[in-house]
Amino acid sequence: MNTYVITGASDGIGAELARQIAARHRGAAALVLAARQRERLDEVAARCQALGADTLVVPTDVTDEAQCRRLIDAAVQRFGGIDCLVNNAGVSAHALFEEVRAQDLRWYQDLMTVNLWGSVWCTHAALPHLKAARGRLVAVSSLAGLIGVPGRTAYSATKFAMTGFFEALRAELKPAGVSVTTAYPGVVATEIRRHGLDARGQTAGRSGLKEDEAMPVDVCARLILDGLEARRREVVMTTRGKLGRFLKLVAPGRVEAMALAALADEAKPRDGSAGPAPERG
Ligand SMILES: NC(=O)c1ccc[n+]([C@@H]2O[C@H](COP(=O)([O-])OP(=O)(O)OC[C@H]3O[C@@H](n4cnc5c(N)ncnc54)[C@H](OP(=O)(O)O)[C@@H]3O)[C@@H](O)[C@H]2O)c1
Repeated sequence: MNTYVITGASDGIGAELARQIAARHRGAAALVLAARQRERLDEVAARCQALGADTLVVPTDVTDEAQCRRLIDAAVQRFGGIDCLVNNAGVSAHALFEEVRAQDLRWYQDLMTVNLWGSVWCTHAALPHLKAARGRLVAVSSLAGLIGVPGRTAYSATKFAMTGFFEALRAELKPAGVSVTTAYPGVVATEIRRHGLDARGQTAGRSGLKEDEAMPVDVCARLILDGLEARRREVVMTTRGKLGRFLKLVAPGRVEAMALAALADEAKPRDGSAGPAPERG
């Protein structure tokens, strides 16, 4: 029985990942589900149990180091170890930097606490157990963690930070046999943009993107699961994402022009008349 700890498991990609792990490893997966909303975690746990998984729900706010450490302790106490930690909990944000008032800038730090520090604290606590199991670490970053996206200075900064942290850690953990898989989703059909923050650091309550070309969440979760099982270094999910990454090296000006065009496109009314959706979560 392999034990998976998943943060941000109450919704979106994390909840779907839990369900797919349960389905793929019927009767052979222990799932430790973490997020703040207990009721939603209980619903996800019930779905996973119906597929034969053993589950443990641990309400956790990853912005609190003590809660991150308690999560890992609870997992080890219940299942005796950890084979895989998926650092998935995250919050999105949309704002032009110049629109953020000085008195509101603090939410940039708060976003870093959720998106980077939550992963750092959970990973630090889980490390001895992952080493003992020669296990797997997963970081759910974003294409905005590979390419700086206008209108996403805060979010891009947190996801670049994740990318760098886990890239360095991957090399450190190689001798111990612990793999580190970083996933870079583009636009995935979840509620993340509605849950995300606006220029004042308030919940946006709406998506600024056209969602009709978003990747279905089950496809995104399957790609992450395939990547972690194959111990891939990276999962870059779309052709456009792979192309953007390559173009950034050889023609960075092109990438900036495309990103600005996408930003202008976003500003248009959402009446279906605008061009293709930009690639970012
Ligand atoms: N969807 C996309 O287009 C997209 C694209 C690129 C990258 N990503 C990344 O994928 C990951 C999952 O995103 P998603 O689309 O599934 O978003 P989502 O549907 O909004 O789910 C986010 C999850 O994170 C949890 N969470 C948020 N703040 C938390 C906190 N302080 N402590 C613990 N859990 C917290 C939420 O649970 P509670 O509210 O219950 O705490 C929820 O389970 C994120 O890291 C995101 O940046 C998403």
